[in-house]
Amino acid sequence: MNKILIIGAQGMLGQELLKIFPQAVGWDREEIDITDEKQVKQKISDLKPAVVINAAAYNAVDACGQDAEFELAKKINGYALGYLADVCLALNATLVHYSTNYVFAGDKKDGYQESEPPNPVNKYGQSKLLGEREILRRSNLKYYLIRTSKLFGAKGKSTMAKENFFAQMLRLSTKQIELRVVDDELSNFTYAPDLVQATNILWQESHASGIYHLVNANPRTWYEGARALFDILGKKVKLIPVAANEFPRPAKRPKYGTLLNTKFPKLRDYEEALEEYLKDRN
Ligand SMILES: NC(=O)c1ccc[n+]([C@@H]2O[C@H](COP(=O)([O-])OP(=O)(O)OC[C@H]3O[C@@H](n4cnc5c(N)ncnc54)[C@H](OP(=O)(O)O)[C@@H]3O)[C@@H](O)[C@H]2O)c1
Repeated sequence: MNKILIIGAQGMLGQELLKIFPQAVGWDREEIDITDEKQVKQKISDLKPAVVINAAAYNAVDACGQDAEFELAKKINGYALGYLADVCLALNATLVHYSTNYVFAGDKKDGYQESEPPNPVNKYGQSKLLGEREILRRSNLKYYLIRTSKLFGAKGKSTMAKENFFAQMLRLSTKQIELRVVDDELSNFTYAPDLVQATNILWQESHASGIYHLVNANPRTWYEGARALFDILGKKVKLIPVAANEFPRPAKRPKYGTLLNTKFPKLRDYEEALEEYLKDRN
C-alpha cells in the first residue's frame, strides 16, 4: 500500500489532511524539524513514503519583516523544500506542497494564472517563493505545488496555531460594537476541508505534476467576507469598510491576490463552505 507522510500534521491544514488520509503517518515539529537537512533525509528515508505532503510552514506575515524572523521563515518555507524534494527524488516519492497568493505582486485586477511570474511584495512572500523555486529547479521531481489563499477551518492544535479570519471576526464582535475591516484587498477565501479534498483528487487521479491554484470560488475582500459571515448568522454587527492604508500593518499585502484556477475543476463558492464551517463549529 502507498504510504503517505503528512508534515505539519498539527496545523490547520495538516489536521484536515489527517482526517482525509487516516492511514497516513502524521508528523509535526516534535517528530521532525524540516529545517534539519540530516534529520529530514534520515527519517523520511527510513519511513519510505510514496507521498510526502508538506503542510508545515512559517506563517507570521507581519513578524517576517524582522531580520531574525525572516531568516527563520527562509529556512522553514524555503530551504527545507530543497531537503524534502531531494529525499522525494531519492525515494521516487511525490511531494505535495502548499504555497500562497502572496508570491504575486497584486497589481493584476483580474487575478493570476498558474504560469504567471511571481514577484512578492513582502518577506513572507519571498520566503514562500524560495520554497517554490527549490521544488521547481529539481527537474525529475514528481510534485504538486498548490497555491492557496485566506485559509479557514478549525484551529490547528500546535502551540503557534493562528485563528482564522472568520473566527477572529466572531471573537471581536463579542467585544466591540463596530468593526473596521479592510475593503481594498481582493482574494479567495479557502476552506481547509475543501482544499484537502481537492488535494486528494489531484493525487488519486494522477493529475500532471505542476503548479495548481486551489481556492474556493468567488474572490472577496476581507470586509465582504465579514459581511457574509454576519449575514449568514443573522447577527447585527456594524462593519466599517476601510482602506488597507488606514489599517497599518508592518507587512504590505498584495491588493489584488485572486488566484485563477485554470487546470483543475473549480472548488465551490466560499459562502457555501462558510455555512458548513459555521455549522460544524457548533
Ligand atoms: N493560513 C493561511 O491563510 C494560508 C494562506 C495561504 C497559504 N497557506 C499555506 O498553507 C499551508 C498550511 O498552512 P496552515 O495555516 O495550516 O499552517 P499552520 O496552522 O501555521 O501550521 C503549520 C504547522 O507547521 C509546523 N511547523 C513549523 N515549523 C516547522 C518545522 N521547522 N518543522 C516541522 N514542523 C514545523 C507548525 O508547528 P508549530 O506550531 O509548533 O510551529 C504547525 O503545526 C502552509 O504552507 C501555508 O503557507 C496558508
